[in-house]
Amino acid sequence: MDALPPQAPPAEALARLDALMARGAAFFGTRYAIMGGAMSWVSERNLVAALSNAGAFGVIACGAMEPDRLAQEIQGTQALTQKPFGVNLITMHPRLDQLVQTCLDHKVGHIVFAGGIPPGSAIKAAKDGGAKVVCFAPALALAKKLIRSGADALVIEGAEAGGHIGPVSLTVLAQEILPFIRDVPVFVAGGIGRGEAILSYLEMGAAGAQLGTRFVCATESIAHPNFKRAFIRGAARDALPTVQLDERFPVIPVRALQNGGTKRFLEHQAETIRRFLAGEVEKAAAQLDIEHFWAGALRRAVVDGDVENGSLMAGQSVGMVTREQPAVEIVQELVWQAAAAIAARQPA
Ligand SMILES: Cc1cc2nc3c(=O)[nH]c(=O)nc-3n(C[C@H](O)[C@H](O)[C@H](O)COP(=O)(O)O)c2cc1C
Repeated sequence: MDALPPQAPPAEALARLDALMARGAAFFGTRYAIMGGAMSWVSERNLVAALSNAGAFGVIACGAMEPDRLAQEIQGTQALTQKPFGVNLITMHPRLDQLVQTCLDHKVGHIVFAGGIPPGSAIKAAKDGGAKVVCFAPALALAKKLIRSGADALVIEGAEAGGHIGPVSLTVLAQEILPFIRDVPVFVAGGIGRGEAILSYLEMGAAGAQLGTRFVCATESIAHPNFKRAFIRGAARDALPTVQLDERFPVIPVRALQNGGTKRFLEHQAETIRRFLAGEVEKAAAQLDIEHFWAGALRRAVVDGDVENGSLMAGQSVGMVTREQPAVEIVQELVWQAAAAIAARQPA
């Protein structure tokens, strides 16, 4: 994998890229229309501030944090950067309203609602408090509905992404959604590892791109060295969605690198289904048992470095992660790759 092009691309190519990124960059108040996708346990103050300082838009992953803990993380990030950054809130968090208020109290300018369609009341509270609202749109009809509900920008995330995923690839989502949504900026996510891909989506009408996997091995990322090593070794084909054994027991699809945990999850499902069929356990209890298998598993991998049993959530772009690099270098690499692709098109 080549690193940075040997020399900076010509100024005209960089200016053309700036023009393509202008709407997205203006929306975030950043140099580049590149978002650091929130990653639970990984996207904390250090990586978020490093990405924002590099000209991208860092986003704190609130995950299961309580409001007090989120407040600390926001303040910690503000101590490390003067640049704008956002907070990603999971809509099913039982204290979603308080978390929105925590963001507003600490003057967070952008709130990203993830993990489902946010309640209208949460969108309204965020906007009334002065924040811009970003929502994930899994289909065109929902994209339009979210805009009517007040979303200021959308992310469309393809199934190539790391973590919880929908069924449709970014290639298809981009064609289904980008030509038809002009009212708000739309950011693309899932499987993006290089600048040329960002450029192609910008030219299709995207306002910018959100990347997660590519930033896990930033020097500033506090992910455990074992977690980073797994990413550096991993290939696209190793980052697979969870397998569901029986449609009576639905499993939420998560894309992750295969390890001992993913193998045992299959055995756990098979054993739980056997117990259900033998009348040893009720259906609801069996479903809960399956759902609980991965509880705390991402933390085990990211924080404790248990890459055998923990969850190695990663996107297919993991094959493009080849070494640890400062966030500023990764961002510059993406920008230069995009600009070099523009420059290469111009007649000699
Ligand atoms: C380790 C990991 C954890 C993630 N956690 C979250 C999360 O807490 N909330 C969220 O909205 N997305 C989460 N994501 C998705 C990212 O924000 C981003 O959309 C995704 O990584 C983009 O696809 P890519 O990995 O191919 O770049 C996670 C992704 C990874 C790899």
